Amino acid sequence: MSEELLNFLISRRSIRKFRPDPVPDELILKILDVARYAPSARNSQPWVFIVVKDPEIKKKLANVHVWAKPLENAPVGIVVACNTEVSPESYQVDCANATMQIMLAAHALGLGTVWLQTLRNISEIQGIVGLPKNYVPVAMLALGYPDERPSPKKRKELKEIVYLNRYGSVFVG
Ligand SMILES: Cc1cc2nc3c(=O)[nH]c(=O)nc-3n(C[C@H](O)[C@H](O)[C@H](O)COP(=O)(O)O)c2cc1C
Repeated sequence: MSEELLNFLISRRSIRKFRPDPVPDELILKILDVARYAPSARNSQPWVFIVVKDPEIKKKLANVHVWAKPLENAPVGIVVACNTEVSPESYQVDCANATMQIMLAAHALGLGTVWLQTLRNISEIQGIVGLPKNYVPVAMLALGYPDERPSPKKRKELKEIVYLNRYGSVFVG
């Protein structure tokens, strides 16, 4: 079982092409229910999740930069935003944890996601989805049923990134 779970983690891929089938609200809520269990500094849970189904709003988000285009053909977008006053030092990390949890929960349900960059377009995204200034959109996700099966992206070898006790000392032979 543990090997299966590890393989599940490794088998997630960013999905940028989606089938048009709608994602039932029940599944969206199931995924966001799991996201709530992500770790956050002092358990502050500074996040909010904006589920975007309105095609006009989705299109505006898809146009904030060229790499956000996958949102256009996804049935659902999710903006993950964190309150900078509630978690001033860690809001980005907290939101990233929740985002990862969303991606893995979606994967478990046979859905695909891709994380879309937000941090260069904060005020534009705040304007599009009506976020107050103290909520920074740390991530947007396109969510839907996959219409592609991408090969795994190349990963760095362990020996390039793992050290023992101090940076630079060999751990992996
Ligand atoms: C912070 C962050 C920003 C990203 N921004 C984008 C983006 O704007 N557009 C996009 O298509 N993919 C984006 N990605 C997805 C990465 O390109 C992808 O995770 C990476 O290439 C590894 O591929 P994999 O997720 O299939 O393993 C982003 C990922 C992260 C973590």
